[in-house]
Amino acid sequence: MLRNEMDRWGLVSQGLHWLTAVIVIGMFGVGLYMAEVAEPFSSLQFSLFQWHKSFGVTVIALSLLRLGWLITGPRPADSNMAKAWENKAARLAHIALHVLLLVVPLTGWIMTSASTLGLKSMIFGVWELPQIVSPDKALHETFEEVHESLAWTFIGLVALHIGAALKHHFIYRDNVLIRMLPWSKR
Ligand code: HEM
Ligand code: HEM
Repeated sequence: MLRNEMDRWGLVSQGLHWLTAVIVIGMFGVGLYMAEVAEPFSSLQFSLFQWHKSFGVTVIALSLLRLGWLITGPRPADSNMAKAWENKAARLAHIALHVLLLVVPLTGWIMTSASTLGLKSMIFGVWELPQIVSPDKALHETFEEVHESLAWTFIGLVALHIGAALKHHFIYRDNVLIRMLPWSKR
């Protein structure tokens, strides 16, 4: 089934969820490595920056596609094993994750555009990333801070989200994790 139903996620939402999850978790790792560990201004750091930017803007596209798909169909119902406040918290967390999926890469894009180094950002070595603001050192520094803080917020929320998925599966023993798995049966 491609579409979402009341009792399970369809293949499109499942595919976009897991593809995004793999990319974003990779982004956390590459982002922290290139910014904190790689030798500054080395060719390794430069190419990691290009990969980070390329996959980062891909996340914007995948997330817009996903939101578009989400509003065209029903959303699986809340778990009846979890407490009412947990279901409410899950709703809020999912909204926050959708917002961060757009805002975190957007703040990275603004930071890169505001850079005064004058380097080109190539998306997968093919397209030049358009500049969305003019070069400005102060703006670059502000968005560097914003991008880093929001990325850490994102990492924290994803950790909580994974913990919640495991709680559903192993403690409540409901179908919340199973209904997000493409190979699962009804
Ligand atoms: C889902 C998308 C993204 C995630 C999760 C993410 C995450 C991160 C993380 C964790 C860091 C390391 C922060 C630090 O400790 O300094 C980082 C740094 C960075 N990100 Fe992203 N990022 C994303 C998208 C983007 C995009 C789209 C761009 C640009 C087009 C970008 C540009 C950068 C740059 C230039 C740095 C290095 C900042 C520095 O000089 O310290 N990011 N990102
Ligand atoms: C960066 C990584 C991740 C992000 C950004 C993310 C984001 C989201 C979002 C926004 C939703 C709401 C459904 C939707 O709109 O498609 C969702 C649902 C879900 N996620 Fe994740 N997710 C990530 C990783 C994971 C991982 C690693 C797991 C498993 C351990 C997981 C398990 C689930 C489950 C089970 C649901 C369905 C919840 C329900 O049916 O109510 N997610 N995820």
